[in-house]
Amino acid sequence: MGDRLKGKVAIVTGAGQTAGETTGNGRATAILYAREGARIFAVDLRLESARETCAMIGKEGGTCTAFAADVSVKSQVRAMTEACLAAYGRIDVLHNNVGTPTGDRNVLKLAEEDWQRIMDVNLKSMYLTIQSVLPHMVAQGSGSIINISSTASIMSHPLLAYKVSKAGVNALTHAVAMGAAPKGVRVNAILPGLMNTPMAITEQSRNTGKTPAQVIADRDAMVPLRGKMGDAWDVAYLSLFLASEEARFITSTLIPVDGGQSGKIG
Ligand SMILES: NC(=O)c1ccc[n+]([C@@H]2O[C@H](COP(=O)([O-])OP(=O)(O)OC[C@H]3O[C@@H](n4cnc5c(N)ncnc54)[C@H](O)[C@@H]3O)[C@@H](O)[C@H]2O)c1
Repeated sequence: MGDRLKGKVAIVTGAGQTAGETTGNGRATAILYAREGARIFAVDLRLESARETCAMIGKEGGTCTAFAADVSVKSQVRAMTEACLAAYGRIDVLHNNVGTPTGDRNVLKLAEEDWQRIMDVNLKSMYLTIQSVLPHMVAQGSGSIINISSTASIMSHPLLAYKVSKAGVNALTHAVAMGAAPKGVRVNAILPGLMNTPMAITEQSRNTGKTPAQVIADRDAMVPLRGKMGDAWDVAYLSLFLASEEARFITSTLIPVDGGQSGKIG
């Protein structure tokens, strides 16, 4: 075990994952935070999946509590914050990982209810968790909030609601970071590019009718750095840095983890 997050408590939302052979972003981050000494409050809509993450952390000697909540519902977010404080007494890191592209379409085909659901899950959820947790960080005089956005927010993207919701996450990050800075609370966003997680491959395979192997080959071919997608651990390692005191002078940033894909201009 390392000690880069020694003594810290981290809420990780979406700490379970879509089933599959690879690891999801939230699960990898929760595991890495725990390896560096943080106690984890693992939140997911699907309690079983959060419990699996906690079991993995427990096996490595870490501390993790699983909690069921839909983070797009205010009362459940309040319950999440209170339960974390009851369990651990403080919150140092709020890692907002929940996000979904499911049901997204282009502007002509997107159904109103899918637009609303994607906005609620991807964007409203982060406003709610920050509104609930930030006062406790302000009272402590410290804290790190990490919002998982996407390079879809700054690059061309075929689907509408996912891109717009993630662009909203970037703006939310900037707005909250400026208000929280005098209080010693840092707020940053990570923009993953093409990552080999079960959610991304399953979703794209369903949307395009391609086999998972084809989807993986197509995605690999779009990445400048060695022609290979990243994985959840690439997101987790940047998260670890931003959560730690090593990043004490860093706030209000939007950082891509994308193998150079967003650098391909023209
Ligand atoms: N995988 C990629 O290529 C990629 C690229 C860019 C950004 N991202 C972002 O990374 C994040 C995680 O992606 P992943 O691939 O690990 O996904 P994942 O589906 O494996 O994990 C997300 C978890 O969130 C949970 N969840 C969904 N809605 C919830 C809600 N309302 N309340 C509580 N929990 C909820 C799910 O049950 C799941 O366990 C998302 O924000 C996604 O947009 C992923």
